[in-house]
Amino acid sequence: MHIHRLEKVWLTFGIAMLAVFLTVLGAGSFALGLTPPDNHGLHAVDPVTVSEEPPFNIPGLVQAGDKVYNAYILAYAFGFSPEIMEVPRGAEIHFYITSKDVVHGFAIPRTNVNLMAVPGEINHVAYTFDKPGEYLVLCNEYCGLLHEQMAAKIIVK
Ligand code: CUA
Repeated sequence: MHIHRLEKVWLTFGIAMLAVFLTVLGAGSFALGLTPPDNHGLHAVDPVTVSEEPPFNIPGLVQAGDKVYNAYILAYAFGFSPEIMEVPRGAEIHFYITSKDVVHGFAIPRTNVNLMAVPGEINHVAYTFDKPGEYLVLCNEYCGLLHEQMAAKIIVK
């Protein structure tokens, strides 16, 4: 097969640019200390037994420090445990979310809290509620017939 000289030049240029791009991307990620996502120290969970073992056997709020709390929340078809949770205003709330059946959502409108509740995995986000009041928690992943009714409430005091 005959390759024109210009084609060869462009081919070489393309491969060189690809090598440069991958090198920059790799070196950049390494320099920033980027690693693949982890479970924030929590192991993967068995969705079948998750509701029988700590910490999800007693879902809810646990104080973890001065103005720091962990909120363990279990999603299921079609609700959340706990259904109502009181949290102190101004405290850092670390949400740990998992599901014991199918994929659900965990979204708090008017905040940037928006997670997937995945069976077998624990998702985490930290949020501080600065304003007291009632916050709705919604499932925003279609999960079945009663998806629309799947909700919970957070009361900030
Ligand atoms: Cu759970 Cu939609």
